[in-house]
Amino acid sequence: MMVTTLLHLMVAWSLFLNIVGGANITVQMGRSATLPCTGITNVFREWQRLDTGDTWVQLITLYTGGSTPDLQEKAGLDTFNLRGRFTATADDDFTATITNTRAIDDGRYLCDGSSSGGQIVHTLLTYCKYLLYK
Ligand SMILES: *[C@@H]1O[C@H](CO)[C@@H](O)[C@H](O)[C@H]1NC(C)=O
Repeated sequence: MMVTTLLHLMVAWSLFLNIVGGANITVQMGRSATLPCTGITNVFREWQRLDTGDTWVQLITLYTGGSTPDLQEKAGLDTFNLRGRFTATADDDFTATITNTRAIDDGRYLCDGSSSGGQIVHTLLTYCKYLLYK
């Protein structure tokens, strides 16, 4: 009985943990970069990018609590010249892909499941293949 109560408490408590993970993702300019959102499980999730003023800007939001997934592309895609190049899957993975990467894509990307769903922050770094031969 006590063990069950304790388990319930632990499960309830873990829902409020703000897990921050993420990786440094390096990609050759022109190639595609994959940004995982693994482990973020909230019905409302969003991809954001950090701007030069240290503010997180919305790129894509996904609500999966309805009969069909509601994926919305936000104005931030224009802010960062990412419209048409930054996409995310409207499923449990919510994996983001940046196609035809450029140096201006370097920066920090957040997959946010709000306070209960956790957060992942990736740092993207593009490189020029010819620099490798110097
Ligand atoms: C990413 O790179 C920075 C700088 O090299 C390093 O301090 C940090 O630990 C790295 N983060 C991860 C998640 O590997």
